[in-house]
Amino acid sequence: MSRFDAAFLVLFVSFASLSSVAQTGKSPHPPTSGKKCLQCHEALGKKKVLHSPVNEQQCDSCHIVPAAGGLSKLSDQPESLCFTCHDKDSFLKGNVHGPVAVGGCLACHDPHSSDTPHLTRSSGPDLCFSCHEDMKARLAASPFRHKTVDSGCITCHSPHSSPQKFQLKAAAPDLCASCHKEVMAQAASSAVKHSAVTSGQACLTCHDPHVAQTRPQLRADGVATCLNCHDKAVTAGGAPLTDMKGLLAGNQDHHGPIRDKDCTGCHSPHGGPHFRLLKENYPKEFYAPFRESNFALCFGCHDSALPRDEKTTTLTDFRDGDRNLHFVHVNKTPKGRTCRACHETHASSSPNHIRKSVPFGAWSLPVNFAKSENGGTCSPGCHAPQTYDRKKLSTASAQ
Ligand code: HEC
Ligand code: HEC
Ligand code: HEC
Ligand code: HEC
Ligand code: HEC
Ligand code: HEC
Ligand code: HEC
Ligand code: HEC
Ligand code: HEC
Ligand code: HEC
Ligand code: HEC
Ligand code: HEC
Repeated sequence: MSRFDAAFLVLFVSFASLSSVAQTGKSPHPPTSGKKCLQCHEALGKKKVLHSPVNEQQCDSCHIVPAAGGLSKLSDQPESLCFTCHDKDSFLKGNVHGPVAVGGCLACHDPHSSDTPHLTRSSGPDLCFSCHEDMKARLAASPFRHKTVDSGCITCHSPHSSPQKFQLKAAAPDLCASCHKEVMAQAASSAVKHSAVTSGQACLTCHDPHVAQTRPQLRADGVATCLNCHDKAVTAGGAPLTDMKGLLAGNQDHHGPIRDKDCTGCHSPHGGPHFRLLKENYPKEFYAPFRESNFALCFGCHDSALPRDEKTTTLTDFRDGDRNLHFVHVNKTPKGRTCRACHETHASSSPNHIRKSVPFGAWSLPVNFAKSENGGTCSPGCHAPQTYDRKKLSTASAQ
């Protein structure tokens, strides 16, 4: 080494230590003795996935190592090193993930090689949990989790950036559509549609993408989920619908399924073929010809024999002696009364969910039901006051 070279080296080393380019090691690198880098650093080339410049032994694209030995350094700042080859803009699309925004590529990637695809430091959710300990804790603490979370967070999130908030790969419902094709098909093709499924936050209004206290992935219980919007008179086909929250608050005797926090006992939330998104047939008119199948909704939970026999002492309490008054009112063709003629569907403040009044065209027809020990009295807008008594001798034997 000439004096000139030595002086240059001193100058160079002091420059390097002053320069802002990061040094990779604190102690000097030994002389490379004419060997290729991987001959001494063979461990770096032994993993399943090799970074292309490592595979091609272009170590010098990132490292500057003095052949004669001395302090080594990276060829650029760690924050910009990767962008010397990778297009920076493609990592900064709209909403940028925290570590990417500060060039923290190395938090997730090994620059040389790894046993997991794409040079990641670990795989699946574990990579994300290394920083998102809160999400790990939330998943562990919740009784239900979305199954697809286990196969990886990047099903829905880009690890780098995306035009969507939270670096989502797409907005709902498209985000969910790739896997839940049936739900999308149902929402699109149903005769009765529910706008909640496809507009606004769509699926995410009702479902949590990660964890839930209530199946299936609901954000709140099966009543609160619906009252989120049905706390006012939303309009369907130009007409206002009942403010369901107000109705439930004003009438404390809630129908069984609502007490059990399940509006979907009767409604299909995603859309369906039936009037009012009902799960099964239920006539939409005040009068309908009696067929058991017309009332499949109610008879899904209640005994379908209720209005079957003209005479009974067992099928129903709505009887005068053995005269089945459900039969009398309901079991007629063509003008059988539908259950709504007498019963409230959601909640009431009279016994047996009997209504105070029922819409009959433009008129609110009063029902005026009073219960007694063995029966009751109605003085409805339909006929003169009538009383029934279950203990009365049977109509046949009384004659
Ligand atoms: C003759 C063997 C040998 C060769 C050839 C060699 N190294 Fe090293 N290298 C070492 C040893 C020994 C260390 C210090 C112990 C360790 O960290 O493994 C080291 C450390 C390093 C370090 C970390 C510490 C520092 O000084 O920054 C880097 C980076 C490095 N080498 C890169 C390279 C590159 C790039 C090449 C090829 C240009 C290369 N090495 C060639 C033996 C070698
Ligand atoms: C794409 C850039 C890049 C390439 C190519 C690259 N390295 Fe590195 N290397 C780095 C970075 C960045 C660090 C610092 C790592 C850290 O801080 O975690 C590093 C650290 C090292 C270290 C010390 C720490 C360790 O991980 O053992 C060695 C040794 C090393 N590199 C050797 C090599 C060798 C040998 C090659 C070529 C076969 C090579 N590097 C190619 C970017 C690169
Ligand atoms: C010297 C050029 C160069 C530098 C610098 C560089 N890369 Fe690469 N990288 C490549 C090439 C070439 C490929 C392979 C082609 C491709 O997939 O784009 C690649 C591929 C990758 C892949 C995909 C690997 C796979 O198996 O799918 C990742 C991840 C990656 N680089 C991360 C980084 C990170 C992180 C840095 C900064 C530490 C970095 N690269 C710096 C050239 C480079
Ligand atoms: C939060 C962790 C994380 C950070 C930070 C991160 N990546 Fe990635 N990167 C990943 C994961 C996970 C994949 C695999 C993506 C997949 O399979 O769709 C990936 C894939 C890649 C790929 C290959 C496939 C592709 O999308 O092009 C490249 C190249 C890459 N990353 C480079 C970088 C660079 C450069 C940075 C820094 C600007 C960076 N990554 C920061 C986690 C990260
Ligand atoms: C190196 C640490 C680190 C890793 C690993 C990491 N993240 Fe992050 N992530 C952050 C930081 C920091 C923020 C920004 C936090 C903030 O703004 O409150 C963030 C923000 C996010 C956000 C947006 C949160 C919000 O409230 O806006 C999402 C979504 C996210 N990360 C998902 C992921 C996923 C998915 C992975 C795995 C592929 C992952 N993160 C891995 C550090 C990390
Ligand atoms: C099925 C798609 C999906 C999967 C899988 C998924 N996320 Fe999310 N993530 C979302 C959506 C959608 C949001 C937007 C906020 C919301 O609707 O709750 C979000 C928001 C976030 C947020 C920011 C808001 C918050 O709730 O803290 C973080 C952090 C996050 N996700 C991390 C993760 C991590 C970590 C994983 C893997 C364990 C993961 N996500 C898996 C869809 C998903
Ligand atoms: C108005 C609230 C609401 C919206 C919006 C909504 N869902 Fe649901 N979803 C529910 C309820 C409630 C259930 C439970 C249904 C049941 O038990 O009958 C459910 C059930 C599911 C199920 C379980 C299987 C099934 O079909 O019953 C999946 C999967 C599902 N929803 C996906 C989605 C997707 C994807 C979207 C968006 C396209 C979406 N949901 C929109 C409330 C909603
Ligand atoms: C990568 C595929 C995938 C994506 C994307 C996806 N899911 Fe799922 N989802 C699943 C799988 C798998 C199950 C479990 C199905 C099973 O157990 O039958 C599931 C189950 C569900 C369930 C029913 C949970 C239960 O308790 O039965 C709901 C609700 C749901 N997903 C909603 C969503 C929503 C909302 C989105 C969009 C934010 C979404 N999913 C995106 C794969 C996915
Ligand atoms: C995001 C707000 C929102 C949520 C949450 C919501 N709905 Fe709706 N719902 C509406 C709107 C708006 C309408 C009016 C018709 C339309 O736009 O689809 C409606 C209409 C209805 C109808 C009448 C449908 C018709 O056209 O006759 C029923 C029944 C219904 N919703 C039940 C439910 C049930 C059950 C839930 C809970 C699983 C629920 N809704 C949750 C907004 C919502
Ligand atoms: C026992 C079955 C049943 C349950 C449980 C049920 N509904 Fe209904 N719902 C119906 C029937 C039947 C109709 C049609 C009523 C009519 O036209 O007489 C209806 C109608 C509606 C309507 C339209 C009201 C209008 O003004 O026409 C909305 C909104 C509604 N339900 C929401 C809900 C919500 C929210 C819940 C949970 C709190 C719920 N339903 C629980 C059976 C039920
Ligand atoms: C004309 C009025 C009226 C009609 C229409 C009507 N109900 Fe009733 N229902 C009653 C009365 C009154 C009672 C209370 C009987 C008692 O306990 O004294 C009752 C009781 C019931 C009960 C409690 C069990 C029993 O039978 O005592 C059920 C369940 C029931 N009705 C279901 C229905 C269904 C389903 C429909 C439609 C298919 C329907 N009702 C139509 C008046 C009616
Ligand atoms: C998802 C199941 C389910 C469906 C569907 C259903 N009910 Fe009910 N119903 C119940 C439960 C549970 C009770 C409470 C029984 C109890 O408290 O003993 C109940 C109670 C009643 C009562 C009061 C009975 C009494 O003894 O006072 C009437 C009336 C009634 N339902 C009518 C109807 C009508 C009309 C329909 C159809 C529009 C219907 N139900 C649909 C589950 C259902």
